Amino acid sequence: MTRTRNRTRTALTPPLSALPINTDLLLLLLFSLSLSPRESLSLVDPYFGNCSLPVACGGQNITFPFYVRDRQPSYCGFPGFNLSCTDDRPVITLSSDNYVVHDIFYKNQSLRVSNAALSNDNSTAFSYCAPGSLKNLTLATTLFQLSQNVTATLSLLYDCNISLRADELLNYRISCPGEEQGESGIVLGIYGDGKDQEVIDATKECGALVEAPVAAEWKGRAEIEEALRSGFVLNWTASDCSACKESGGKCGFDYGIFHFRCYCPDRPHAWQCTQTGAFTSSPSSLSLYSKLHDEFS
Ligand SMILES: *[C@@H]1O[C@H](CO)[C@@H](O)[C@H](O)[C@H]1NC(C)=O
Ligand SMILES: *[C@@H]1O[C@H](CO)[C@@H](O)[C@H](O)[C@H]1NC(C)=O
Ligand SMILES: *[C@@H]1O[C@H](CO)[C@@H](O)[C@H](O)[C@H]1NC(C)=O
Ligand SMILES: *[C@@H]1O[C@H](CO)[C@@H](O)[C@H](O)[C@H]1NC(C)=O
Ligand SMILES: *[C@@H]1O[C@H](CO)[C@@H](O)[C@H](O)[C@H]1NC(C)=O
Ligand SMILES: *[C@@H]1O[C@H](CO)[C@@H](O)[C@H](O)[C@H]1NC(C)=O
Ligand SMILES: *[C@@H]1O[C@H](CO)[C@@H](O)[C@H](O)[C@H]1NC(C)=O
Ligand SMILES: *[C@@H]1O[C@H](CO)[C@@H](O)[C@H](O)[C@H]1NC(C)=O
Ligand SMILES: *[C@@H]1O[C@H](CO)[C@@H](O)[C@H](O)[C@H]1NC(C)=O
Repeated sequence: MTRTRNRTRTALTPPLSALPINTDLLLLLLFSLSLSPRESLSLVDPYFGNCSLPVACGGQNITFPFYVRDRQPSYCGFPGFNLSCTDDRPVITLSSDNYVVHDIFYKNQSLRVSNAALSNDNSTAFSYCAPGSLKNLTLATTLFQLSQNVTATLSLLYDCNISLRADELLNYRISCPGEEQGESGIVLGIYGDGKDQEVIDATKECGALVEAPVAAEWKGRAEIEEALRSGFVLNWTASDCSACKESGGKCGFDYGIFHFRCYCPDRPHAWQCTQTGAFTSSPSSLSLYSKLHDEFS
């Protein structure tokens, strides 16, 4: 039902009432009869053509819902999933901070990122020691969410004066370069978020608090820098691309109607290349594949 409604909204489909039922089939017949395979290649829909070009960055193939701005038109991806490719590293901006994208797991719709401030080539060891170098990650939308079971929170407390509670708080002290071996101006790291009692108590002796997500397996471990650099997993929510992909289309987004689009060789479709996909590839290529299979087995 949704599909029918969406299809009537496609720019290239005239209102249904004005057309006989089998219009699509008729158009396809005319389309295929009037074009030789060679001609149809050059007349392939430009959206389909432009979104078919493979894009790689940092050894990863970038596909829908992600797209690399400056290399791909925004209509090849989903809104909010733009990446930049800087020094051959994919970078995503989340709550106005840059995060390096280490892995994209298309299968379970998640990605592993780490704060770019810690992983750019110029970052020094202990770069998280400087107050302000890390910011809170605030995910305002449900587009990206922290995966609860695989993520822990590391609270970093800056500018602490632990002289009153040195015995307890020294355990959380993070060694940072250049600091005096005194009891003030120090940085503490506590696994837990701002609601944990240990963190609440410690903030009384400190200046700024930053909550940094880390992978759950680092919880409790003293290697703060490694924990922060190894990053954490976010899951994402975007239109499901599988039906379009399986029908031979390229997923994308139409900013004009602000809706998912399936770009197909003939024209953009609502969800999948429906009849077109079957028409152009099924019977002949299936028999070709079964012939090849018979021949080589
Ligand atoms: C597709 O890409 C070509 C080359 O960059 C560009 O000239 C053309 O306008 C693009 N087509 C669309 C529909 O964006
Ligand atoms: C990226 O795609 C190319 C071909 O399109 C493939 O050969 C390569 O293995 C892919 N790389 C990864 C990391 O998946
Ligand atoms: C890319 O994403 C950033 C942050 O998510 C956003 O501010 C920016 O407008 C986006 N750019 C485009 C071209 O969509
Ligand atoms: C998705 O799969 C990858 C690799 O299998 C895994 O590391 C990651 O934690 C998974 N994501 C979620 C949200 O569970
Ligand atoms: C790293 O430093 C070099 C030279 O100091 C500079 O040209 C480059 O832009 C810096 N790169 C980053 C990612 O900050
Ligand atoms: C992402 O993770 C959050 C928290 O674990 C969960 O509530 C949400 O359903 C997940 N979303 C998807 C699309 O998997
Ligand atoms: C997280 O763990 C809880 C309890 O172990 C489980 O019930 C839940 O399904 C898990 N959530 C995800 C997204 O794996
Ligand atoms: C640290 O706190 C103690 C006790 O409140 C105080 O005497 C000392 O002056 C403070 N040090 C600094 C550098 O603020
Ligand atoms: C980070 O978030 C925590 C908890 O919401 C808050 O207490 C803290 O002030 C925030 N830190 C910064 C630097 O905004």
